Amino acid sequence: MKAIIPAAGLGTRFLPATKSMPKELLPVLDKPVIQYVVEEALEPEGVDGVIIVNSREKPQIEDYFSIDEKLEDMLSSRGKDELAQRVHEASTLPVSFVYQDNPCGLGHAVLCAAEAVGAEPFFVLLGDYFVPDRQMCLRMKEVSKEHGGASVIAVAPVPEDQTNRYGIIAGECTNRSETADAESEGAVWKVSGLVEKPEPKDAPSHLFIVGRYLLSSRIMELLATQGPGAGNEIQLTDAMERLLAEEEMYALVVDPAEGCDTGTPAAWAATNARMALLDPNQIDAFKEALGQAAENLG
Ligand code: G1P
Repeated sequence: MKAIIPAAGLGTRFLPATKSMPKELLPVLDKPVIQYVVEEALEPEGVDGVIIVNSREKPQIEDYFSIDEKLEDMLSSRGKDELAQRVHEASTLPVSFVYQDNPCGLGHAVLCAAEAVGAEPFFVLLGDYFVPDRQMCLRMKEVSKEHGGASVIAVAPVPEDQTNRYGIIAGECTNRSETADAESEGAVWKVSGLVEKPEPKDAPSHLFIVGRYLLSSRIMELLATQGPGAGNEIQLTDAMERLLAEEEMYALVVDPAEGCDTGTPAAWAATNARMALLDPNQIDAFKEALGQAAENLG
C-alpha cells in the first residue's frame, strides 16, 4: 500500500522563510518536517512506499531524498561516520515524486498521484502534522479491516470556534454510548456526511479531520470530476462526501495531543520544544538554553 503526501503548497504561513525554502524542509531539531511524516507512513505495518506530490518550483525536496556522495565521503574522511550514516538515511527511503503544476486544492493534489497509486486503497498524510511512534497507519488499517475494507479517516475534537478551519464529519459513534466518551480516543464513528470549513452554527459535529486518510481507490475517479468547493479549490472532502453515497466510511477518534503540529510558526516552535524534551541527545542542552533565555528576559 502507498501513501500520498501533498507538498506543492506555497507555504504562505511561513513567509518570508519559504520565499526560497520549501516549508516541508523546515527543520524540527535537525530533521526536515517531511521526513517525520514519511517515517510515520513507513512505520511497521504502515505503507511500503510514499508518493510526494511536489511542485517543480521546489526541487530541494527531491534533492533532500537523493544521495549526496560528495557530502557523505567528506564526512567519512573526517571521521564523522555516524553523521554520514544519518545523511545517507533519507536517500534510502522509498519515496517517489509526482508533480502538481497548478496548486488548486488538496483534492487536485491527491488526483495528481492517481496513476502512481493504481487501483489499490491508499493513505493520504498531510505534511504539516506528524504523529511519531504511534502506528497511526496500522490503527487506521485495523478499523478498515473490521469494517470490510471501508475508507477510514482520523478525527479529533475541534474547539467550537474553529470549525471553519477544518473538514467536519457528521455521523454516529459505533462503539461508545456517552457523548463525551464518543469523542475520546479509540471511538469509531460511521460517517454520514462531511463538510469543509463550516461556520460553528452549521457544523454537524465536534469532530474535525486531522489530515490522515485511508481511502478507497474509487475516490480518484470521483476527484477526476470534482468541481471547485470552499475557497474555490478542488476539495478532497467534497469528493469524500460523494463517495459516501456509494461506500461506507468510518472515522477513528485520535488524541490530538499525540500529534505534533508544524502548520504555523508558533505551533512549529512548540513542536521543536516538545521534540527537544523527548530527545535524550538534546534535552539537557535545550533546558539549559531555555533557562538562559528566560533569565536574559528577566
Ligand atoms: C485540509 C482539509 C481539511 C482538514 C485539514 C486538516 O484543509 O481540507 O478537511 O481538516 O486539512 O489540517 P487545509 O488545512 O488544507 O485548509
